[in-house]
Amino acid sequence: MSRHYDVEAVRKEFPAAERMVYLDSGFQAPLARPVVAAIETFLREGLESAGPKSVWLDRVEQTRAKVARFLGVSADEIAFTKNTSESMNIAANALPLRAGDSVLMIHGDHPNNTYAFLNLKKKGVRIDFLPMTDVVNAETFLPYIDGTTRAISLSHVTFHAGHRFDIESIGALCADKKLYFVVDVMQAIGVVPIDVRAIQATFVGCGSHKGLLVPQGLGLLYWDQTLKELEPAYLAAASLAEIPDDLIARPDRLASSPTARRFELGNFNLPAIHALGASLDMIEQIGVKNIQNHCFDLGDHLLAQLDDLGVSLIGPRQRQHRSPHIYVVGLPATEWLSYFEEHGVRVSPERDGIRISFGMFNTIDDVDRLVHLIRGRLSKKSFKAA
Ligand SMILES: Cc1ncc(COP(=O)(O)O)c(C=O)c1O
Repeated sequence: MSRHYDVEAVRKEFPAAERMVYLDSGFQAPLARPVVAAIETFLREGLESAGPKSVWLDRVEQTRAKVARFLGVSADEIAFTKNTSESMNIAANALPLRAGDSVLMIHGDHPNNTYAFLNLKKKGVRIDFLPMTDVVNAETFLPYIDGTTRAISLSHVTFHAGHRFDIESIGALCADKKLYFVVDVMQAIGVVPIDVRAIQATFVGCGSHKGLLVPQGLGLLYWDQTLKELEPAYLAAASLAEIPDDLIARPDRLASSPTARRFELGNFNLPAIHALGASLDMIEQIGVKNIQNHCFDLGDHLLAQLDDLGVSLIGPRQRQHRSPHIYVVGLPATEWLSYFEEHGVRVSPERDGIRISFGMFNTIDDVDRLVHLIRGRLSKKSFKAA
């Protein structure tokens, strides 16, 4: 049961969720039938006709428009990439940063964002890390901003403890201080509503194999197209303002596309983009806000049960500061992961314990099955929660 949508109907679209207790959407989502159907259509078309490429490319643009609507921006501000890492590297290298400039980040945030910026050390750019605290907002960053600060970058939701940082207040701070703002929304997208205009971000990037339900190999990048000075580090025909009709490359017409296509390189991951079109239809039909609230309800239920058992939560607890769907609990992964696996429960090992992460298809029953297993083992004397 869900107060927000017909979760039993949604669950039927995810056969994996019927076969096991799948509490690992923060790692990757199981595939849903409509997503598989979109990929199968692509494969069948390729098999039977070597592909109607114009139809395939039309679908790319339809999906781009859906992504834009989903994020509240224009289709011209959306580029398709390979994953979060690529999106973050494109963003980091497009910022006009020079030796002596600095970027603020959070210590322990996702490495795929952090390394994209650490690589700028080669140019003499300094990366300064703030400590990770349960609440991170504009006030957290303010004391660290000085005359060298040019940009802030962080995750919206953290993968290792489910913080949900106040990116709107940080975006407002960046706008006020004229800083570039780059946000990794990989863990948030598809579960937490994202209004990119409200974030006032320069770039927003993610992959699509978690909340967006698509297999690995597809990423998204939003770029604030008013910031024309942000140029791609790489160039391909597809990223040009004018692609020569004869496809003979000339040195005199190298202007980048006025749209986010300036950041795209070559052919697309067509089946994944088509799949994303299908998954966005699913997500929009349910409503991200409903998915968020459903996951929050599952989380409240989980936390109440864990309190009863004396199992701690790592990371923030209040709805205002926690992600709806990621809960890391103080059960050492070395002792608990294989136990869960043996009992048909999929979760992830994390730095400080076991990560339980919900998807749109999870139910209270899934939580109860997990809690039943924890209770059973803890009741045996030799096992204790950390
Ligand atoms: C916050 C965050 N960023 C990025 C990634 C993944 O990066 P990529 O899409 O490049 O594999 C993950 C998890 O896989 C993540 O949790």
